[in-house]
Amino acid sequence: MRVSVFCGMSVDGFLARPDDTFDFLKAGESVPHGFTRFLNSVDVVVIGRRTFEVVRSLGHFGLYGKKQVVVLSGTPLDLSSIQGVNLGQMSGTPQEIVAQLEKRGFKHAYIDGGITIQAFLRAGLVNRITITRVPVLIGQGIPLFGPLSHDIQLRHVRTQSCKGGMVQSEYQVDGVGRSGISKKKRLDPKARQNKRK
Ligand SMILES: NC(=O)c1ccc[n+]([C@@H]2O[C@H](COP(=O)([O-])OP(=O)(O)OC[C@H]3O[C@@H](n4cnc5c(N)ncnc54)[C@H](OP(=O)(O)O)[C@@H]3O)[C@@H](O)[C@H]2O)c1
Repeated sequence: MRVSVFCGMSVDGFLARPDDTFDFLKAGESVPHGFTRFLNSVDVVVIGRRTFEVVRSLGHFGLYGKKQVVVLSGTPLDLSSIQGVNLGQMSGTPQEIVAQLEKRGFKHAYIDGGITIQAFLRAGLVNRITITRVPVLIGQGIPLFGPLSHDIQLRHVRTQSCKGGMVQSEYQVDGVGRSGISKKKRLDPKARQNKRK
């Protein structure tokens, strides 16, 4: 299963202000930046509970069209009052979530929410990251990235500058495999043998 990230952030790396507002991203809203094309390429949207709360409070579920949306939370959520969206809840490790989604036949997941993206990255499960940087520094907020126990190598795919000073970059994540070891080591039969010992 492919796992992709597509988000907007301030140049200093924040997805939202500490109070969840994201007025600083609005500059980019009127400029086409490929979100619709990206959304059409995925078959399931996986969002963290905090992102879900923000989308719910704004009534923005229309953003996801008819896609299956999965909210991750360790606490049971009452989703029954939310109409017009194909919504479900899951919890578990990122590996368990991907395995369950694969079992249900999904092929390409869009993962969203800072904490959530960070967990999938640490698990070595993210394949593609598209970041649109909006030309502003906000100093504090909710970060896209967080601590890692090892480097994750990214391969630059493309960068495009858009009207209004936004810069969109796309990266392939191919430095770390699902096992948490580098792709080179995964493909090396000696390394695989050593791992079995
Ligand atoms: N700029 C953008 O493009 C963009 C994109 C996405 C989000 N945002 C904003 O960024 C902020 C995101 O906040 P955030 O990074 O703190 O949180 P988040 O990732 O949206 O949500 C974190 C929560 O998701 C749940 N969760 C994550 N992984 C889980 C797992 N494997 N199993 C069970 N539950 C799991 C946990 O919920 P429980 O605590 O309930 O267990 C966790 O506390 C929001 O303000 C959002 O609106 C901006």
